[in-house]
Amino acid sequence: MALNIAIIKEISPQEKRVAATPDTIKKLCALGCEITIEKGAGEDSHYSDSSYKEAGAKIANTYEETVESANTILCVQVNKDINLETLNKDTLLIGLYNPHNNLSLIDECARNNITAISMELVPRISRAQSMDVLSSQSNLAGYKSVLDATEYYNRAMPMMMTAAGSIAPAKVFIMGAGVAGLQAIATARRLGAIVSATDVRPAAKEQVKSLGANFIAVEDDEFKEAENTGGYAKEMSKNYQAKQAKLVEETIAKQDIVITTALIPGRPAPKLITEKMVKSMKDGSVIVDMAVEAGGNVEISKCGKVIQKHGITIIGHENIASRLSTDASALYAKNLLNFLTLIIDKESKDLKLDWDDEIIKGVCLTNDGKIIHPNFMKNTEAKEA
Ligand code: NAI
Repeated sequence: MALNIAIIKEISPQEKRVAATPDTIKKLCALGCEITIEKGAGEDSHYSDSSYKEAGAKIANTYEETVESANTILCVQVNKDINLETLNKDTLLIGLYNPHNNLSLIDECARNNITAISMELVPRISRAQSMDVLSSQSNLAGYKSVLDATEYYNRAMPMMMTAAGSIAPAKVFIMGAGVAGLQAIATARRLGAIVSATDVRPAAKEQVKSLGANFIAVEDDEFKEAENTGGYAKEMSKNYQAKQAKLVEETIAKQDIVITTALIPGRPAPKLITEKMVKSMKDGSVIVDMAVEAGGNVEISKCGKVIQKHGITIIGHENIASRLSTDASALYAKNLLNFLTLIIDKESKDLKLDWDDEIIKGVCLTNDGKIIHPNFMKNTEAKEA
C-alpha cells in the first residue's frame, strides 16, 4: 500500500510554519505518495491551497477529513491538543515533539498506537545532515536574532564616516557558537559590526575565527573535553562556570549587543548572564536570549516578551524560526522529504522502516503501543515511579 500522507494545519496560533511546500509535495507524489493537506495549512507561510493542489495534493476542509485515510501525518509541532484518538492505528506522526519536556505526549502516542517520530532526535551524522531540523531552523533563527537586536538598537551597526562626524561600529558578542551562533556571527559581520564569540566546545574556536570574529573562552582542561560524541556541549562543572562567569563579566560591559544561544540537550539552558552583568552594560544596549524557551541564558529574560531593565532591552522571542515562516517551512519540509525518502521503499512505494538504521532508532519514540526509545523509556518510568 502506498503512503497516504496528511499534512495538518498547525494548532498553535504562534506557529506560522507548515510541514510541506508545493515543491516537497510534487516530490512526494513522484515517490508514489497520496497527499492530503488541511485547508489553509500553508496560509501563514504564504503557500496557498491552490499551489498545493497544483502540486498534486488533495485539499481537505477539516482535521478529521485530512487524517481520515492517512497512515503518515506531517506537522511542525506535535501539539498536545492534536486529537490522537481519531488517527488510524500504527500511523506515523512525524514532527517536533520537544520530547524531553513532553513525556506525557509520548505516553499518549504509545497508548493510541501511534508511531511517534521526533525530528529533533535526528542523529548528528553526515548521512543525516539533510534531515537535521535543528540545524535548518537554528540557522534561520540565528540570522533573525541579529535583525531583532537591530530593531531595538538605536544606533547603526557599521562604522560610518560622514561630513557630520563618525559613527563607531557596534560591538556584538555571541554566546554559544553552534549553528545559530555561527549564523548570528556571519549576519552581524555582514552588517558591519565588530564581533566576538564564546563557546565551551574547542571545535567552535576555528569556526568562529574563520568567520572573522574573535574567540573568547576559558580554555582549560575541561574545555578540551566539553563536546560529547553527538557533537553537543556537556553541562560544565561549577568550577568552570565560575571561571566563565568572571570572563563574561569582564567582556559584557564593553558590548552593545549580546546574543545568547547556549543550549545543552535535555537539560535547562546554562545561566550565563546575571542581572548584575546586565546592569554593567551601557544604556541602550540590547540582549537577545535565544535560549529563553529552555529556561534562558539570561537571569532576567522573559519567555515571549521584550523587556527593558537598567536601560537595556532584553528580547525573549519564542519560536524565532517561525518568524521567517516561508523559508523556515521550506527547509523544514525539505528535511521531512529527505527523511521520508529514507523510509519509502523505491520498488513497492510502501513504508520500510529499517530498525537497524541508527537514524530510525534515533528518531522513533514509540511503536506498536510501546515507548521504544531508550532515553525516554527510562525517563517515563522514572516519572511514573
Ligand atoms: P546547541 O543548540 O545544542 O547549543 C548551541 C551552542 O551552545 C553550542 O555550540 C554549545 O557548545 C554552546 N554551549 C553550551 N553550553 C555553553 C556554555 N555554558 N557556554 C557557552 N556556550 C555553550 O548546538 P547546535 O548549534 O545545534 O550544534 C552544536 C554543534 O553540533 C555544531 O556547531 C556542529 O559542530 C555540530 N553539528 C553537527 C551536525 C552533523 O554532523 N550532522 C549538524 C549540526 C550541528
